[in-house]
Amino acid sequence: MALWGGRFSQGADSRFKQFNDSLRFDYRLAEQDIQGSMAWARALVKVGVLTSDEQAQLQQAMEVLLASVQQDPQQILSSDAEDIHSWVEGKLIDAVGILGKKLHTGRSRNDQVATDLKLWCKAQGELLLASITGLQQGLVASARANQAAVLPGYTHLQRAQPVTYAHWALAYVEMLERDHSRLQDALKRLDTSPLGCGALAGTAYAIDREALALDMGFSGATRNSLDSVSDRDHVVELMHVASLSMAHLSRFAEDLIFYNTGEAGFVELSDAVTSGSSLMPQKKNPDALELIRGKTGRVVGAQMGMLMSLKALPLAYNKDMQEDKEGLFDALDTWHDCLDMAALVLIDLKVNGERTKAAAQGGYANATELADYLVAKGIPFREAHHIVGETVVYAIQVKKPLEELSIPEFQRFSPVVGEDVYPNLELEATLAKRVAKGGVAREQIEGALVAAEAWLAKR
Ligand code: ARG
Repeated sequence: MALWGGRFSQGADSRFKQFNDSLRFDYRLAEQDIQGSMAWARALVKVGVLTSDEQAQLQQAMEVLLASVQQDPQQILSSDAEDIHSWVEGKLIDAVGILGKKLHTGRSRNDQVATDLKLWCKAQGELLLASITGLQQGLVASARANQAAVLPGYTHLQRAQPVTYAHWALAYVEMLERDHSRLQDALKRLDTSPLGCGALAGTAYAIDREALALDMGFSGATRNSLDSVSDRDHVVELMHVASLSMAHLSRFAEDLIFYNTGEAGFVELSDAVTSGSSLMPQKKNPDALELIRGKTGRVVGAQMGMLMSLKALPLAYNKDMQEDKEGLFDALDTWHDCLDMAALVLIDLKVNGERTKAAAQGGYANATELADYLVAKGIPFREAHHIVGETVVYAIQVKKPLEELSIPEFQRFSPVVGEDVYPNLELEATLAKRVAKGGVAREQIEGALVAAEAWLAKR
């Protein structure tokens, strides 16, 4: 039975009911709806609406229901209740009869759904924080295991300067650390309870909303009832955090897809996260990474969709707001899956140190070192840059890397070049010079790894 049948003489058109009902997705709020209802029953005792005995009976029925939905949430889907709030109320009426009908006193589904969703976001947020940390730990472990590997660093996808695999992995640890902090920040901001705001104007019972908020695990109660029932900022914010983090994961995926190509051959992905082709027997496709890259689109799309649904919505609650859930659930589930899948990809990732080193040595990636060498000999950088440019053109013509040019060949472009140029062109030397904070010098990377290991161990 619908919660609002009294005013209606005609039943809902089945097509409208199908269109309007939200149970098929909001069943995921069952635990939160029951927890919020338990707290609401306690609050109703304090204002004299329920006796302690009644509250105890309701509490007991709700505990049974909670255990049942925790064990089998899918059971809810077989009901034709309009939404999760109707479903829970119906179940309580089944269990305790008329008393179940008292629970909704002073409450509206508007403050109820807003509360349920915030409770769900808090719980989901904790899982996501753990998954971000898990991926960061995977990156640090992979960096440690391959600490020796040199990697060509790219700009414009052209080999630019040598870096190391660990430095690359730590770059993603940094991105994920910002995602972690953004998520914590969003969770802090949504940590206020709308319960007791009623439909829009506030509840007509003198509920201690602060105490009620604390009872549910919120840090406090919201301040304005109109805003409370129609605020979905947290939905957009969480989807934004997810979108930006997915953008990071898509870059991670794209880097590894490229590193895994036959052309690069820098890494080999495990059989566990790749698939074959139905036609071409030689293929091992990076599906896990491609899906991470591809799913970024739907997460960003969900955020945009919600933002558009909120645009120009008049105060306070409107049914448009029911559109908040499917996109949010999908975006956060997708983000969660992708974080975990990225960690899985790293577990058996093999780095081919020979290939990465050969690639880092090629492509004239030590040209900057030659320029710096000329600067050390007193040539202004701009001029040195030009000299090296000419030298590289020559080296390409004679098909030699810079370190294989003879001194007379170097001297065609600058007379200051002497024997001491060669050590400067060695791969390790180019790394070793980058000792400033955040640079690729071995000791900088060791320090960054130790620091990341320490902060991650504390979580
Ligand atoms: N299913 C609804 C939602 O998700 C619950 C709130 C319904 N409120 C109402 N006034 N019809 O938004």
